[in-house]
Amino acid sequence: MFNTMTVTKTAGALIGSLLFLLLASWFASSLYHVGPGHVAEGEEAPQAYRIAVAGGDDDAAADEAADEGPDFAELLAAADVAAGEKAFGKCRACHKLDGSNGVGPHLDGVVNRDKASVDGFNYSNAALEQEGSWAPENIDAFITNPKGYMPGTKMSFAGIKNPTERANLIAYLETQQ
Ligand code: HEC
Repeated sequence: MFNTMTVTKTAGALIGSLLFLLLASWFASSLYHVGPGHVAEGEEAPQAYRIAVAGGDDDAAADEAADEGPDFAELLAAADVAAGEKAFGKCRACHKLDGSNGVGPHLDGVVNRDKASVDGFNYSNAALEQEGSWAPENIDAFITNPKGYMPGTKMSFAGIKNPTERANLIAYLETQQ
C-alpha cells in the first residue's frame, strides 16, 4: 500500500504540473490575447489578422456568389431566342401573342408595358395593385415564382426555376411587339 511519502510525492507532482500548466496558459494568453481588455480608453484596439482558410467565412461568401452564376442582365444579353420561343410553350395555354386575350392578357408588347394595363382584361386586384412596368427583370422575378412575387394573382403557374430558360423566354417576348 501507499505510504505517506508516496502520497505526498504524488500529490506534489500533480500540484506541480497543474501549477506549471496554469502558468503556461497564463503566459500564453498574455502573449496572444489581444482585444479591448488590454486597451486603454480612447486607444485603438490592435487588430488581429484575418487568415483566409478553406471553408472559412470569406470562402463561403465567395462560393455563394459563384453558385448564383451569371446575373440576369448577362443571361439576357446571351439569351437564345429560339430556345425562348420553345419555353413560351409553357405560357401559350393562357397567353396569346396576337393582341387578343385568353385566360391571361395578351403578351405581345408585354416587355416594358405598364403592369395590368391591357384594356378589357379582367385582372385580379393583386395585379391591379401592382405598380410600375414589366421591365425584363420584373418579368423574370414574376415568372420565377408568380404567387411569391404577386400574392393573390390569378395566374396559376408554378414558375420556371431555371434562370437561363427565363432569360431566353424574356428575350423571345422582347421580339414580340
Ligand atoms: C394557367 C394560365 C397561365 C399560364 C400557364 C401563364 N399565365 Fe401569365 N397570366 C395568367 C393570368 C390569369 C394573368 C393575370 C394575372 C392577374 O390578374 O392576377 C397572367 C398575367 C401575366 C403577366 C402580367 C401581364 C400584365 O398585363 O400585367 C405576365 C407578364 C405573364 N402572365 C407572363 C407569363 C409567362 C411568361 C408565362 C409562361 C412562363 C405565363 N404567364 C404563364 C395566366 C397564366
